[in-house]
Amino acid sequence: MDNKNNLVVVKETPGGPYILTGEFRMIRKDGSEEMVTGPKGLCRCGHSKNKPFCDGSHAKIHFEQD
Ligand code: FES
Repeated sequence: MDNKNNLVVVKETPGGPYILTGEFRMIRKDGSEEMVTGPKGLCRCGHSKNKPFCDGSHAKIHFEQD
């Protein structure tokens, strides 16, 4: 029951996205679902053109959130 190998891990990166590792279910606002296998970066700067995923735009805007 306590199988940590199945956990999704979320790691903050300074000045960058949250990095998700593991397999997770992505549910879009239109209700569609897909399984995604990380590592995947989730945008936290708000400038990605591929939200919710990071597209590297944080570097262009010099996002500095810790
Ligand atoms: S954190 Fe990378 S584009 Fe926003």
